[in-house]
Amino acid sequence: MTLNFSKCQSVLITGASRGLGLQMVKQLVSNAERPKKIIATARKPEEAQDLQQLAKSHPDIHIVPLDVVSDASIDAAVKEVSSIVGPAGLNCLINNAGILIDTDLNTVTRDAMTKTFESNTVAPLFVTKAFLPLLKTAAAAGQGSGMGVHRSAVVNISSLLGSIQLNWGEAANFKTYAYRVSKIRMMMDPPAPANITNGTTLSSDHPWSFFVHNQPGILLTIFGACLFGGNTR
Ligand SMILES: NC(=O)c1ccc[n+]([C@@H]2O[C@H](COP(=O)([O-])OP(=O)(O)OC[C@H]3O[C@@H](n4cnc5c(N)ncnc54)[C@H](OP(=O)(O)O)[C@@H]3O)[C@@H](O)[C@H]2O)c1
Repeated sequence: MTLNFSKCQSVLITGASRGLGLQMVKQLVSNAERPKKIIATARKPEEAQDLQQLAKSHPDIHIVPLDVVSDASIDAAVKEVSSIVGPAGLNCLINNAGILIDTDLNTVTRDAMTKTFESNTVAPLFVTKAFLPLLKTAAAAGQGSGMGVHRSAVVNISSLLGSIQLNWGEAANFKTYAYRVSKIRMMMDPPAPANITNGTTLSSDHPWSFFVHNQPGILLTIFGACLFGGNTR
């Protein structure tokens, strides 16, 4: 497995308007071994001012509208991305977009559970499904064998709060029921023989690719500040 982006033609990041997604775009674009095409998606690109500003000075960044809970938006994004990547296909899909509705047992509602599940669990699965043809194309077109972003990869951004093992003691104080459940379930997608946090899950359905369920730790984005307090970035 290799994470050398010099051999990776294209990366797509969902939820790149702010927070971790925007930071990933910034990191990728400043990396000497960056992918040739960085596709930064946002549900309201016109409101993503920092991303727009970044793209002005970096022609490698392509901003594509994508609301991950809308099938129509996903279909339109696949078409647009297809014309951006061409016959090389899409090498790396990063399912980063997510929501957090802060609730405890007293305040949790069916609506909070359903909305969170829709955004954090159902959406990444259907975004992945929609981009599979482009990922398969990249896997076939990529040079070399084995698994890696030189062929194709799907990265799901999970969370420590989605770990059963890590949510004992003090960590159990974060009563974000909807969020926790959504991230636990996310780690089960796609159906695979093994599921581990911060590791690699091989899918027997797609031997040409690999799936990583990554949890980034605690970051003071709007998300992080909601949970832990402090200023956002
Ligand atoms: N921050 C942390 O400490 C932390 C820790 C562990 C895991 N994570 C995970 O990291 C990921 C990013 O979190 P963050 O801290 O960067 O959160 P954030 O600052 O709140 O950003 C969330 C991003 O997701 C986008 N988004 C939400 N719903 C969307 C939808 N339906 N369609 C498209 N985009 C949508 C938002 O777009 P808009 O601007 O349009 O709202 C925004 O770009 C999440 O999956 C989160 O679970 C974060």
